Amino acid sequence: MRKIPMLKLAFPKGFLWGAATAAYQIEGAYNEDGKGESIWDRFSMYSGNIKNGDTGKIACDHYHLYEKDIEIMKELGLNTYRFSISWPRIFPDGKGKPNIKGLDFYKKLIGKLLENNIKPSITLYHWDLPQKLQDIGGWANREVVDYFEQYAGYVFNEFRDINALWVTHNEPAVSVMSGYWHGSFAPGVKDPSAAIAASHNMLLSHGKAVQTFRKLGISGEIGIVLNIWPNYPGTDKAEDIEAANRVNESSTNWYIDPILKAKYPENILKFYKEKLILPEITDEDMKLISQPIDFLGVNYYSSNFIKNSPGTGFFDADCVPVYYAITDFDWPIYPEGLYDVLIEINKLSPGLKLFVAENGATFKDVIDRNGNIEDVQRLDYLHRHFAQAHRAIEAGVNLAGYYVWSLMDNFEWAQGFSKRFGIVYTDFKTQQRIIKKSGHWFKEVINNNGIEL
Ligand code: BGC
Repeated sequence: MRKIPMLKLAFPKGFLWGAATAAYQIEGAYNEDGKGESIWDRFSMYSGNIKNGDTGKIACDHYHLYEKDIEIMKELGLNTYRFSISWPRIFPDGKGKPNIKGLDFYKKLIGKLLENNIKPSITLYHWDLPQKLQDIGGWANREVVDYFEQYAGYVFNEFRDINALWVTHNEPAVSVMSGYWHGSFAPGVKDPSAAIAASHNMLLSHGKAVQTFRKLGISGEIGIVLNIWPNYPGTDKAEDIEAANRVNESSTNWYIDPILKAKYPENILKFYKEKLILPEITDEDMKLISQPIDFLGVNYYSSNFIKNSPGTGFFDADCVPVYYAITDFDWPIYPEGLYDVLIEINKLSPGLKLFVAENGATFKDVIDRNGNIEDVQRLDYLHRHFAQAHRAIEAGVNLAGYYVWSLMDNFEWAQGFSKRFGIVYTDFKTQQRIIKKSGHWFKEVINNNGIEL
């Protein structure tokens, strides 16, 4: 039979293909070599906070197995790897004297990545604040902004010539809303006023770190990673359209507008002023937050479809049921949302360099009798999202790279080890890694710099 020629969607030359992780989710070695306690070490100690009482004490033991993990990255052909630095590994008290042994780990890790031509994308803050800083109020205390700047400056200087992609914060919206508003993530605070103070301070610390990066003349590029989870109106009724707007403004725009447009969304600011106790927000603050960035990282997983629902939550809005397939987190699979997000950001800041800094899905993985994991649902999820990213590039978006979440199954925050996102399977008892079918497929994508339709 004649083979039907496949249509290939080619990505631009030099496109970066990678996978992402975060320190607390993979490293383990929670108290080794002088590391200080983080808010996640503390939060996961209390029963009821994490599913099955799991903790990140060992996680993927990447602290000891990083060389093997880089071998896997090589095998997959990644040309970039996004990871985060654990602040309390470098400054056990959050400030003061650095812990050289902690720094050495990242020196070894980065050295090995560079040796293998894998470009580091380094996130300074992926949610593991030193507990000592939480003891003075954490991100709700404006002093923490200066401690973050000191930590960032120290790390920048130590790695000043490596030409990395630097990320100040990962998803401030999630650390704020889950950590300070709902209390379902560390530090477990349930105080909307503290949450808004924390969001403002995180954004300030981002601005300060960018400023320091420029002042020190560090090689490479710097940006921030935001989670953009679009909220579409569930119907075309005006009240549902308004409800969707409210949710978008309080989630996406609360972060992206200050960074790209130097202002908070007016309606939400007014609403918060009426209902909460807000910190002082000055013009100087807004100038600092909106320092020019070299790129914006977008984490995209899913979309919501919203209806007006008086009395539901803070914004009188609720999700309507949809009939899209869902992941094991019950998140609707809606790849078109990624296209819309990339197009919208490009409208907001034309030509800004973008990365998909995380995209992936959790499904129940099964090891078959040959020892393989045929995770075709994950493969299909990624395939459909890659196609939408390609479509956005064709439409003129300056998308420079794509990171799959995650390199390997890891500690999925409040869900512990019960949710697997990896393209590599982690056996948490033996620390064996098995490349899943989606991982083998991703290798081909990277090799061809494109996908087949
Ligand atoms: C976070 C990751 C997390 C993933 C899946 C993102 O919000 O940056 O740390 O594991 O989503 O939930």
